[in-house]
Amino acid sequence: MKVPKSLTSVVQAGVITEVVSRLMSGKEADVYVVLCGEVIRCAKVYKDATQRSFRHRTVYTEGRSVRNSRRSRAMEKKTRYGREEQEEAWQNMEVQALTQLQAAGVRVPATYTFLDGVLLMELVVDEEGNPAPRLHDVTFTPEKAREYHLTLMQDIVRMLCAGIIHGDLSEYNLLLGAKGPVIIDLPQAIQASGNNQAERLLARDIQNLTLYFGQFAPELLSTKYEKEIWLLYKKGKLTPDTKLTGQFEESTKRVNLTDLLRTIEDVNIEEQKRKERLS
Ligand SMILES: Nc1ncnc2c1ncn2[C@@H]1O[C@H](COP(=O)(O)OP(=O)(O)O)[C@@H](O)[C@H]1O
Ligand SMILES: [Mg+2]
Repeated sequence: MKVPKSLTSVVQAGVITEVVSRLMSGKEADVYVVLCGEVIRCAKVYKDATQRSFRHRTVYTEGRSVRNSRRSRAMEKKTRYGREEQEEAWQNMEVQALTQLQAAGVRVPATYTFLDGVLLMELVVDEEGNPAPRLHDVTFTPEKAREYHLTLMQDIVRMLCAGIIHGDLSEYNLLLGAKGPVIIDLPQAIQASGNNQAERLLARDIQNLTLYFGQFAPELLSTKYEKEIWLLYKKGKLTPDTKLTGQFEESTKRVNLTDLLRTIEDVNIEEQKRKERLS
């Protein structure tokens, strides 16, 4: 196909040899199938920052460290320079998160280069070698739904052990590759420590997946992975290989039975007196 404007500089640099097709035009990015020499890859081009809102991002960026203080001051301001810096940090986060997660053994596409706002990564494919469908576009047997749900809970644990929460995990940001689900779309990934919303965002990610797979295997709907995982994480007991159960005991403080009985007795006496006054 004709080279789109957003890819010209990367084509001119000789990194992309041919643009094969456009896969998707999403909210935030255009995604292309490209050739780099002989190898087929996926190019994600971030849309022009001015078309998007920055406001919703603060919840994700909280706690992210920006090393350069001039940069961080500029990012706080709404100047053009500040916006550009913010945009770059946003895009960089996806590359950083993908690289870190791959090293942590989480199923994500391998990254190759990030150049001029273009992220070159592995094209996730299905068994026939075609671009993998999103989970949203697939139906599952109850067995497969349970298997993939558990696989993903373990991936979420590995991510959390690497200090990262996806923050926008759902059947739309998961591809069904030849070997199972692959996690994509991470520019909003958050640092678990230092973000006050961490627990809520983690729970939302987990609940999205539980609701989705629960359509095929309803017994998943009564699992409590979000509570189990967070509690272990907070106690410092979560490891990449933690065996999860999906169960969670609500902590109940031991009640003082004597006190409780005394209170009930008092209420009964009061009630008795009230009745006597009325009669
Ligand atoms: N590595 C990849 N391999 C195959 N398809 C991909 C890959 N990355 C993205 N896609 C396709 O492009 C779509 C949009 O990508 P995504 O990263 O989710 O960006 P957006 O922010 O636009 O949602 C995905 O739903 C998927 O269909
Ligand atoms: Mg997406």
